[in-house]
Amino acid sequence: MSFSENRYSQIPYRRCGDSGLMLPILSLGLWHNFGGKADLDNARDILRTAFNHGITHFDLANNYGPPPGSAEENFGKILHSDFKGYRDELIISTKAGYRMWDGPYGEWGSRKYLISSIDQSLKRMNLDYVDVFYHHRPDPDTPLEESMMALDQIVRSGKALYAGISNYGGEKTRQAKHILAELGTPFIIHQPMYNMFVRGPEEDLFPVLKEEGIGCIPFSPLSQGLLTNKYIGGIPEKSRIADPDGFLQENDLTQEKLDKIIALNEVAEKRGQSLAQLALVWVLRNEVVTSALIGVSKKEQLLDNIAALDNLELTEEEQNQIESILN
Ligand SMILES: NC(=O)c1ccc[n+]([C@@H]2O[C@H](COP(=O)([O-])OP(=O)(O)OC[C@H]3O[C@@H](n4cnc5c(N)ncnc54)[C@H](OP(=O)(O)O)[C@@H]3O)[C@@H](O)[C@H]2O)c1
Repeated sequence: MSFSENRYSQIPYRRCGDSGLMLPILSLGLWHNFGGKADLDNARDILRTAFNHGITHFDLANNYGPPPGSAEENFGKILHSDFKGYRDELIISTKAGYRMWDGPYGEWGSRKYLISSIDQSLKRMNLDYVDVFYHHRPDPDTPLEESMMALDQIVRSGKALYAGISNYGGEKTRQAKHILAELGTPFIIHQPMYNMFVRGPEEDLFPVLKEEGIGCIPFSPLSQGLLTNKYIGGIPEKSRIADPDGFLQENDLTQEKLDKIIALNEVAEKRGQSLAQLALVWVLRNEVVTSALIGVSKKEQLLDNIAALDNLELTEEEQNQIESILN
C-alpha cells in the first residue's frame, strides 16, 4: 500500500509541550466506529484518508469497542494490512483507567492494572510498543506515586515512548509532573475534554500545562457531534445519539444547547465554514492546545474537518460573538 507523497504538506504540526514530539493539529480517535460492530472497510477508509492528509496520530484505549478491546484489535488488523512499513511515521496512543476486566485489578490506577493492561493492549494491536501510554482517569484511592511509577516502568521497559494522563485536574497534573520529572520519565501530554460547551480546563488546567511545558490534546472538540449542523433539523437515523451503543444521549441535546448550536452555525456560515470547522478552529485558537482529537463516522466528515485548516484565523469580532452566544 502507498500513500500520497505530499501528505506532510497538508497539515501543520505543533510541538507537544516542551518535548521533541510534533503532532498534527488534528488527530484521530477510535472510541466510536472502529469496534467489533463497525464496518471494517469504512474504518480502513477513514484511517487511510487520515494518513493521506498527514494525520499521523491515532488514539485508542483498552476499552474502546464495543466490545471493549475490539477497537484495538481492528486497528491492529488494519495497521498490519494497510500500514506495513509506516510504523515509524505513526504516533499510536492507548490508555488504561476505566473498567476493562472483572475483579479488583481491571480498572482505576494500581500498578497491577496499568502494567497488565498495556501488555494486553500491545497483544491486541500486535505491536512492540505504543508511542504514548496514558493513565485514563485519576484514581482517588491509589497513591498518585504508584500510578506514576507504573507509567515510569512502562516507559522504561520500552512498552511506551512517552507517558500521558487524561481527565486529571490542574493540581494533580502538577503533582504528576513533579513525580515523573524526578523519575526522569517523559510525561509530555494531557488529554482533557475541551470544547465550546466545556470550558473548565481554561481556568483549572491550561495554566498548569503552560507553566509545566506539557502538551494538550483536547478530546470531543465537537462535543461528540453536537457542535456540527447534524442535529439542527432533528436527530438523524445515523448519528451518535441514535446509536444505542453511542455515549451521546438524547437528553444531552437540550433546547438551550440547540439554540446555541443554531446561533453558532450562523457565525460559521458567515465565515464560509461548517459549524464543525468553526468548533475546531475555536479549540485550536488556544496556544496551549497541541492537537484537536476528533472522531468521525465516515470519510466525508474527516475531509470536512481537515478543510477547517484552510481558515484558522478567528477575528476578535467572531470570538466576541461566540462568547456572547455561549454565555
Ligand atoms: N480521554 C478520554 O477520557 C476520552 C473520552 C472521549 C473521547 N476520547 C478520545 O477523543 C476522540 C474523539 O472523541 P469524540 O468522538 O467524542 O470527538 P468529536 O469529534 O467531538 O465527535 C465525533 C463525532 O462528531 C460527528 N462529526 C465529526 N465530524 C463531523 C462533521 N464534519 N460533520 C458532522 N458531524 C461530524 C460524528 O458523529 P456521528 O457518529 O453522529 O456521525 C463523530 O462520530 C475519541 O475517539 C477518543 O480517542 C478520549
